[in-house]
Amino acid sequence: MRILGIESSCDECSAAIIEDGKILSHIIASQIPLHAKYGGVVPELASRAHIVDIVEVLRGAFKEAGITPEQIDGVAVTQGPGLIGSLLVGLEAAKAFAYVRNIPLIGVHHTEGHLLAPLIDTASGMEKPTFPFMGLVVSGGHTNLIAVRGIGQYESIGRTLDDAAGECLDKVGKMLGLPYPGGVAIDKLSVGGDPQKYDFPRALPQHDNFDFSFSGLKTSVATQLRHIGHMPEGQDLADLCASALEAVVDSLARKTIRAAKKIHAKTIVVAGGVSANRRLRQRLADDCARENLALSIPPMKLCTDNAAMIAGLGQYRLKDLVQSHAGFDAFNLQPRPSWNLV
Ligand code: KG4
Ligand code: ZN
Repeated sequence: MRILGIESSCDECSAAIIEDGKILSHIIASQIPLHAKYGGVVPELASRAHIVDIVEVLRGAFKEAGITPEQIDGVAVTQGPGLIGSLLVGLEAAKAFAYVRNIPLIGVHHTEGHLLAPLIDTASGMEKPTFPFMGLVVSGGHTNLIAVRGIGQYESIGRTLDDAAGECLDKVGKMLGLPYPGGVAIDKLSVGGDPQKYDFPRALPQHDNFDFSFSGLKTSVATQLRHIGHMPEGQDLADLCASALEAVVDSLARKTIRAAKKIHAKTIVVAGGVSANRRLRQRLADDCARENLALSIPPMKLCTDNAAMIAGLGQYRLKDLVQSHAGFDAFNLQPRPSWNLV
């Protein structure tokens, strides 16, 4: 079975083709340079760029896979959550493709795609997480702790009450005059910094609280900047970055480990753009080793927004729908910009 996946929920336009758990092709057109000069994603520009990119991205996916559109058995597309204009572009492309070919159309949940990303590439030989696992989805748009007891069996354990972790790092980066996306710049600068130099707040520290809040950290960095009185450079800048990052990583790691223990999971899965962060990876690796937990972080290309995770999820959903004789999604499938998985 060959599935075409399409992802366009935010600022990555992506298409991928999966054949029975093997990724045949995977194309991502990133819009980072387009949004960088505004310091964040501009929704209207994002949807326009998707319109420009989508056909080339699809062509690229077929070229890389070495197959023709006639060889596709189903189309999976991100239905939500995300920016409505961006979602619409991918959704309409998927509908058109499925309609012309008369094959099943499957709208999937973006966060579910992230969560199951380590399971899709069955041909890679990478060790797969076993159920139940604790999923931490951490990106510019999401910070969720989700108990995964099986495909389709999710329980929300915690979520951010305000900014997502990546969004917070991006905003802190902007305050510090760093290039967009701030999370990436902070990762690099933190390497030479002292994470203990500034004691930034860790919100909601209570043992039984699994929610996150990052808006206080943002305010704290702004207050510290006013106190310093000038734009920090060199070592000062590195120390500020490392300390702010440490506050984010500390909250994420502590709560994720506690959440895993709460549901008696043996494995932690981390997905989303922030999982590229070196300090977060190191801290989780250390904590998991100490607590005897396995840590699964998919390869980088499957961590950030991508269509392979959407095609992978579509593959499971299609099998499920065929077995249960349920209907596929109709060709008037609508985008769901604010769609909670659980
Ligand atoms: O998953 P993603 O590509 O898009 C969504 O937001 O859904 O994640 C992008 C986010 C941005 O906030 C970016 O700053 C952050 O992931 N990010 C990082 C790193 N790489 C990307 N944050 C910290 N360290 C990194 N190395
Ligand atoms: Zn995402």
